[in-house]
Amino acid sequence: MESPPRPSRWSWRGSIRTRTSDGSAEEGDLNLRNPEGVEIVSPRREESDIEKEAWKLLNDAVVRYCGSPVGTVAANDPGDKTPLNYDQVFIRDFVPSALAFLLRGEGEIVRNFLLHTLQLQSWEKTVDCYSPGQGLMPASFKVRTVSLDGDKTEEVLDPDFGESAIGRVALWTLGLWWIILLRAYGKITGDYTLQERVDVQTGIKLVLNLCLADGFDMFPSLLVTDGSCMIDRRMGIHGHPLEIQALFYSSLRCGREMLTVTDGSKNLVRAINNRLSALSFHIREYYWVDMKKMNEIYRYKTEEYSLDATNKFNIYPEQIPLWLMDWIPEEGGYLIGNLQPAHMDFRFFTLGNLWSVISSLSTPKQNEAILNLIEGKWNDIVGHMPLKICYPALENEEWRIITGSDPKNTAWSYHNGGSWPTLLWQFTLACIKMGRIDLARKAVSMAESKLGADRWPEYYDTRTGKFIGKQARLYQTWTIAGFLTSKVLLENPEKASLLFWEEDYELLEMCVCALSKTGRKKCSRVAAKSQILV
Ligand code: GLC
Repeated sequence: MESPPRPSRWSWRGSIRTRTSDGSAEEGDLNLRNPEGVEIVSPRREESDIEKEAWKLLNDAVVRYCGSPVGTVAANDPGDKTPLNYDQVFIRDFVPSALAFLLRGEGEIVRNFLLHTLQLQSWEKTVDCYSPGQGLMPASFKVRTVSLDGDKTEEVLDPDFGESAIGRVALWTLGLWWIILLRAYGKITGDYTLQERVDVQTGIKLVLNLCLADGFDMFPSLLVTDGSCMIDRRMGIHGHPLEIQALFYSSLRCGREMLTVTDGSKNLVRAINNRLSALSFHIREYYWVDMKKMNEIYRYKTEEYSLDATNKFNIYPEQIPLWLMDWIPEEGGYLIGNLQPAHMDFRFFTLGNLWSVISSLSTPKQNEAILNLIEGKWNDIVGHMPLKICYPALENEEWRIITGSDPKNTAWSYHNGGSWPTLLWQFTLACIKMGRIDLARKAVSMAESKLGADRWPEYYDTRTGKFIGKQARLYQTWTIAGFLTSKVLLENPEKASLLFWEEDYELLEMCVCALSKTGRKKCSRVAAKSQILV
């Protein structure tokens, strides 16, 4: 795999040095264009009071660095005396804020954010005595004012790569979100010069090379530790969680679109294409469950030693959970949470399933079936507040063993079956893509009727999402931004098409061609359509 040149600033340690209070610019100043404020363009109709409030709160959450907007804080709750790191700009949390701004015609804050986080990517980072690989993005950053000699001060960006994070969780998805946002910026603003910049191209390559590096694994899916995605605490999702695979797939598709093909990058592009087709085959074929597939698993033979085993991962049917036997619908289906040798995590994880729809990691029929399942299981997945992060919750002994007795992740709370309004924008996007605007409207209007009165909580608790989360932050920015982005997308569905992907038949063809070498499948575009589309 080609390794991009290290940027010269790679060896920086400490803060990015910037303009000082006497106005002199110092090394590392990004010299960004500096608008006076974040301009909010009015929509075509009169906004409701709740929308006006949401825009105001989003605007208030903006963080400035040397006068320019660079992101939004995770939560802005005036009553919260122990904000921990919720007063920082989280890379993942900023995505819905960025989309809300972009869809309102405000690109500056997003451009600044993308460039500043790119600078942070090139830091030399250490956790105790160990330096993780190049290309890692921080989870969050904070603007700090530090005193210099005399009465001068300067602002510095202080990133957290996980070295201070609770549990020291690894930060796999952040580079993936950065790439996804970079593509969205180009698509919505039409300004492709940003992604064409040499330093930005290098940033894309660093992230993708890190993900594509050879390891010990036999699967095309990414192997990660627990807590390495939106669920950033121990929840039994280590291995090959669906969310990581869906974001990985999306960012490979973004990378393929954005990388300038040169002699230096063509190997990387080839590796991306190979991985895309292998990954989509793997997920479509092995993660999918519906009534028919459950019947197959239920009757699996085990201990098959051969190349053409049916039960390749040696799944013991006894591990099918009791709840699933009743829950699996006649119509619809979903992608399971995780797959490893002798292990299928049958929990339904909403973000992974929605991103599979959005990125076309799953087939068109599977996409339809996922939304049918959400519709059919509305009380379980949407309930009183869209949307449950996963279903069902881990309870009792399972909770004790799998979460390590985590008091924040008790059953039906927080990551363990809590309801997260920020998932709304991704649900809206998936619904628009699949022509199910009715479902999105229903969910958005339910959220609209409660979020403002409830003061924009981070999450809700209980089996149907009835109560504001026990430890939920209020005025959580991605709750506010997720709501606004959903509203704007519903009103401008044509903009949504800039943010999702259709099926790529060339990729499928590559996959079928590869399989045909083993004599398993016939190689043709028609075969690709009929055989890989479950
Ligand atoms: C929680 C969420 C994480 C989010 C962070 C800041 O830790 O699990 O996904 O980025 O809060 O809101």
